[in-house]
Amino acid sequence: MKHNNKGHHWSGVAVAIALALGVQGCNDNSSTAKTEVVKDNAYYRALAEGMVQKMTQDERLGLLVGPGYVFANGAFVTNLDALNNLKGDVPGSVGYINGVYNAESGLDIAASKLADGAAGVRIAPTREGESGTFHGTAFPVGTLLASTWDADLVKRVGAAIGNEIKEYGLDVWLAPGMNIQRDPLNGRSFEYFSEDPLVSGVMGAAEVAGAQAQGVGTTIKHFIANNAETSRSIVDNIISPRAIREIYLRGFQYAEEHANPWAVMTAMNKVNGTYTGQWADLNTRVLRDEWGFEGFVMSDWWSGDGHYADMINSGNDLIEPGGPALPYGYGDALTGLQEAYAAGSLSADTITQGAVRILTQVLKMPSNQGYVATNAPDLASHAILSRQAASDGMVLLKNHQASLPLAGGSKVASFGITQINTLKGGAGSGDVNAAYTVNVADGLAKQFSLDTGLADFYRTFFEQNKTSSDFGGISTVVSCPEPALSQSEIAAYAASNDVAVITLGRISAQGQDRQNAKGDYLLSDVEQSLIDNVSTAFHGLGKKVVVVLNTGGVMDTSAWQDKVDAILLAYMPGQEAGHAVADLLSGVVNPSGKLTQTFPASYQDVPSSAGFPGTDTDGDGKVDTHYYNEGIYVGYRYYATFGKGVNYPFGHGLSYTQFDYKNTAIQSNTLASAGGKVTLTTTVYNSGSVSGREVAQVYVAAPAGTLGKPAIELKAFAKTKLLPAGASETLSFEIPASWLASFDNANNEWIIEPGTYKLYVAPSSEVAAIAPQSFTVSSKLVVSKTTPGALALPAGVTEASFETQY
Ligand code: BGC
Repeated sequence: MKHNNKGHHWSGVAVAIALALGVQGCNDNSSTAKTEVVKDNAYYRALAEGMVQKMTQDERLGLLVGPGYVFANGAFVTNLDALNNLKGDVPGSVGYINGVYNAESGLDIAASKLADGAAGVRIAPTREGESGTFHGTAFPVGTLLASTWDADLVKRVGAAIGNEIKEYGLDVWLAPGMNIQRDPLNGRSFEYFSEDPLVSGVMGAAEVAGAQAQGVGTTIKHFIANNAETSRSIVDNIISPRAIREIYLRGFQYAEEHANPWAVMTAMNKVNGTYTGQWADLNTRVLRDEWGFEGFVMSDWWSGDGHYADMINSGNDLIEPGGPALPYGYGDALTGLQEAYAAGSLSADTITQGAVRILTQVLKMPSNQGYVATNAPDLASHAILSRQAASDGMVLLKNHQASLPLAGGSKVASFGITQINTLKGGAGSGDVNAAYTVNVADGLAKQFSLDTGLADFYRTFFEQNKTSSDFGGISTVVSCPEPALSQSEIAAYAASNDVAVITLGRISAQGQDRQNAKGDYLLSDVEQSLIDNVSTAFHGLGKKVVVVLNTGGVMDTSAWQDKVDAILLAYMPGQEAGHAVADLLSGVVNPSGKLTQTFPASYQDVPSSAGFPGTDTDGDGKVDTHYYNEGIYVGYRYYATFGKGVNYPFGHGLSYTQFDYKNTAIQSNTLASAGGKVTLTTTVYNSGSVSGREVAQVYVAAPAGTLGKPAIELKAFAKTKLLPAGASETLSFEIPASWLASFDNANNEWIIEPGTYKLYVAPSSEVAAIAPQSFTVSSKLVVSKTTPGALALPAGVTEASFETQY
């Protein structure tokens, strides 16, 4: 595996360091054979090793812990007094890596500044005594970005975010979030990409690559299985090693291998009995020994149980935010490490190793490359990109009788409080402090003849009834009840308008899961009557009803989807929300987003629903244990294998045009070797009447073998460029052996079993009507070996302990 780190430029500091190391500089005119210094990981590692050698033991230990927080004015704030060598603070940085300043050794390493925000850069938008503002661009949430299925676009979003990190004087972005959307009730699902590891991996890699090319770090998180928020700091997720490998690790592995993130953040939860931040199987054996990760691992904030040396010993190099774990009463992290060192339970070698890993990346960061931040990222162009990403990702779930796009100049009656209280993103550390959010009403008003009386009614109701709640001191959630409109009022709007648009919203948040209840997963009674009454009134006059879902994830559609003509899933679209919704309803943009998560027929059909979010086994009132009974059968892998009908399948998304797939053919099969692959092509033809883009997906159905297999698994995908009506494009796909393989836990290896494999190139995971291609593997292929016994179930737990044995 090659690890090239990209995006580092010559700077005065680097040249000085290179010369100090005795490397030839660029000013050597005497020789034609100039030595080009390759500033890759090895280069920075050599520098870091030299510096760490010169450090005192306390300086080394200082690198392994952040400065900690203090509680002041009702909130946790960084204890800046405990932070070493900060040069130019960025208010709103959520964490820091200590620097070192020592006149005697000559070491002058600046502290690094870390910022949150999976949908952009999250810092304080204003600063005391300064008139300027420091807003991050709010991009669409992770799920919506992934729904574009467009890795190039997501890379451009990553680049814009990386640019904001750099121009605002920061060093590391604490994102992207790459957990698997295992259950729709996960409160933080919006931050994540997909129920499928390939989609997660490709999107994570794209965002990381884009951001890091700007010369800043990224942190893929939360490693691993932070798939619910209930009891997230104590819950023990019991997961079979096969499911860990095939579902929960694979996306991270893809991002690691394709984009070399500078950092990984462990999760708060335990897996199979051990806190992820204390699990050497995860942080050392798999991540480093098997995958070759060369960055550093940091903990999630205050995670674990105060056994700090166990974290460092496991390969979790950096403890964040450092200081005492205030909410849980655990002691000071630095003191814990000092005591462990004195007691011999933390060795000098391990300390040095962690310090070198952290410093290797820290030396590349803007604060140590002498970069002078402008505080002036190009927010105008980032807003345009945010709008494009939002409209390219939104999914047209239903479009009965081509109800959409709406005719130009349509008179639109816009219902629903969410048209005013439009949600750009979710709550918690993923909330970006953006300069504005364009709400749906304002977006519609720009492109249609909006019924302003109705919009004003909602605006006034919102102003009079909104409430703000502080979300754990991290973000503010503004709520407002849905007003009830009488049937006669609705009838009047139906008479005077051409079409109804009903916008429904669902906030969700870090720290708490959603409920399978009215007003959350299900419609509230007021929302249900709104849909019923609007549909009756508008349909009675032969007019259409469109629903826009402004939600962080999946919600029920069974109770109402038949009553409306079209459903646009807008997810949480970022600051340009209203414009992007209007772009799609008007047809300025032809929808090309597709689902990266299934919309099941009911929550009870979700394979994890019976056990979510786990059980309180010790009777203390808190969930502590969560069995992942469904194993590898997450999302469409379950529905397709066990024949459960769904409302909208994984991969589904409609367009205003039609596409035909022609000449699908396997081009090559070199699977006889572990490094081999299958390649195939298909030609996508736009047989409709308007321009559009299509996402083609390749699903594999494996032959029966020793391991049970899902009926289908996504193994590749590609999106066309914008194809005018009548145009076509040939897409190429590659399925490497490593992605075809299944994990054989008994033998610690990834294998491809012999037999005939079917390949479906399809517009969604509903492949029944597609004629498959096939290829044959003549004998079992061992693709790679893994660490014997790694990631094992806890003592006393066996496969038979799960409620289902697949
Ligand atoms: C979240 C992380 C976040 C960190 C810092 C934690 O509570 O789980 O995703 O990066 O806080 O805000």
